[in-house]
Amino acid sequence: MMNLDPEKLPLHLAIIMDGNGRWAQQRMLKRIVGHQRGAETVNMVVEQAWRLGIKYLTLFAFSSENWSRPAMEVRALMTLLKKYIRQETARMMRKNIRYNVIGNRSDLPDDVNATLDEAIRQTSGNTGMLLTLALSYGGRQELSMAASRLARDVVAGKCSPDEITTDVFGSYLDTGGLPDPDFLIRTSGEMRISNFLLWQLAYTELYFTETNWPDFTINEFQKALADFQARERRFGKTSDQISKRN
Ligand code: IPE
Ligand code: IPE
Ligand code: MG
Repeated sequence: MMNLDPEKLPLHLAIIMDGNGRWAQQRMLKRIVGHQRGAETVNMVVEQAWRLGIKYLTLFAFSSENWSRPAMEVRALMTLLKKYIRQETARMMRKNIRYNVIGNRSDLPDDVNATLDEAIRQTSGNTGMLLTLALSYGGRQELSMAASRLARDVVAGKCSPDEITTDVFGSYLDTGGLPDPDFLIRTSGEMRISNFLLWQLAYTELYFTETNWPDFTINEFQKALADFQARERRFGKTSDQISKRN
């Protein structure tokens, strides 16, 4: 990838990988074929992000709401996920990539959880990129679970209500310890967040493209990152303050 300033890459890149089903349906193929092709785009993005030295990559792979899809599609997605993780763990080892999962793990089938546990265990010593998969993930669910854990700690006297700052609350989320995403890409033309990382996206730069996920190419990825690099992140300050770097 050319034309990118290595100093100005997102520390944490998050992606809503959308449009697999439409990609397939436009080609008279079954939706699952779109998901299979989408897995190839995942490989491309992981490879490129790794080459660029992006430290945190978070992929929305299956939402809490996706459980309402037809049972056959849900099953096929779970099978594909298992196959993907098994197939790619060796590559993650070679690239020094560590797996992480956020979301409601207890809703996932046992065999999927076993595969995830094994991949997380195997890659746990890796220190390169942290690859987080959001699985059975919903932002509101994550927030209410965090509130519940925090309430327990308050009741147990481990934490006082006066100590609950945004940092303290953030540490109770599934993403506790991760920096907030700097950049979010969503494919397939939908301009919504769909219950992804509601708290964490507070100051994230958003990028939407019409391209369906299976068609998302290296060039498009580069274009998105170049777009990010051209933005001025002000965090409430004025443009003058930012250019003077204070
Ligand atoms: C994204 O593609 C993958 C998942 C949500 C699992 P979709 O399956 O949502 O594709 P569209 O939006 O129906 O085209
Ligand atoms: C969001 O995509 C979830 C994932 C990409 C895994 P959806 O396709 O499920 O989103 P909505 O329901 O159309 O907003
Ligand atoms: Mg979709």
